[in-house]
Amino acid sequence: MERHQTLGEFIIENQKDFPYAKGELSALLSSIKLAGKMVNESINKAGLAQILGKIGRENVQGESQAKLDLLANDVFVSTLKNRGEICGIASEELEDFIAFEDEIHKEAKYIVLMDPLDGSSNIDVDITVGTIFSIYRRISPVGTKVTKEDFLQPGKNQVAAGYIIYGTSTILVYTTGNGVNGFTFDPGIGSFFLSHPSIKFPKEGCIYSVNEGNYIHFPKGIKKLIKWMQELDNASKRPYTARYTGSLVADFHRNMLLGGLYLYPQGTTSPKGKLRLLYECNPMAFLAEQAGGKASDGENRIMEIIPSELHERAPFICGNSEMVAIAERFIGEMTKD
Ligand code: AHG
Ligand code: MN
Ligand code: MN
Repeated sequence: MERHQTLGEFIIENQKDFPYAKGELSALLSSIKLAGKMVNESINKAGLAQILGKIGRENVQGESQAKLDLLANDVFVSTLKNRGEICGIASEELEDFIAFEDEIHKEAKYIVLMDPLDGSSNIDVDITVGTIFSIYRRISPVGTKVTKEDFLQPGKNQVAAGYIIYGTSTILVYTTGNGVNGFTFDPGIGSFFLSHPSIKFPKEGCIYSVNEGNYIHFPKGIKKLIKWMQELDNASKRPYTARYTGSLVADFHRNMLLGGLYLYPQGTTSPKGKLRLLYECNPMAFLAEQAGGKASDGENRIMEIIPSELHERAPFICGNSEMVAIAERFIGEMTKD
């Protein structure tokens, strides 16, 4: 009987895309796979294992931390450290990046930035959450201690990026710049199997995802765009359908598979929106582009932005190319006024 390819087999088969690579990236992706399985296990039994709820502390961005935020952070940091394929890591849950200083790690070429648990306000109410990761080659010389500049690279320098969605099933989706593939976890066997090969946004989309509760704070162009998406026009299948979970991973995943537009624009109280450029916007932008979509801050390609802070935010508009282009047009027309 023919069976699906496992993620491990896929990673090894695709190592040939990197003729000069020595297999470190493959090993790093395997470490992410392992940590993902461990976090998945904890999420599945969260209600029974007393790891639901908040810890009563805030992260560096002033957001209250959930127990699972910290658990996921610890699992990823320790797993990636133990395997020795990275020289440093930065995470939403850590104020500063961690430089791994022993010889093995200093010899490593890669750094990782991550959102260990995305959508954490959804944990306690049993709605889909995710993990987002972004991988770069270091700029500093191999053999030295990793520096902040290694982490502050524009998204276009990403070597790989992806997410794990802990939904009705658990799926790991990633790209190394050669298309996007998704692997569904089989809990009975304990392996991820290729279930979504070569994912592409459908040509047309008719879903929009935005926290409309913030409408009053949005720029004029975004307000007009939302009203336009709600207008009746049979030819362009409007009004569009509104779908928003509050987990970027879930909203992105659905829109990539079904066709749609995700928006987290700036608002009067949040001049750069909410999402973090380095470990939310950039990895999703890389995936979007590799799946034939687009990601913009309303004006610029997300992956061109030169970051200046680890936890900096950016307005985020992402989805089918044509829908993002329409959104940019609405924003552009308003800024001309
Ligand atoms: P996190 O849980 O990692 O802090 O991320 C939450 C993010 C993102 O997943 C989601 O799209 C957005 O915040 C939701 O924000 P609102 O609740 O403001 O809509
Ligand atoms: Mn997040
Ligand atoms: Mn998070």
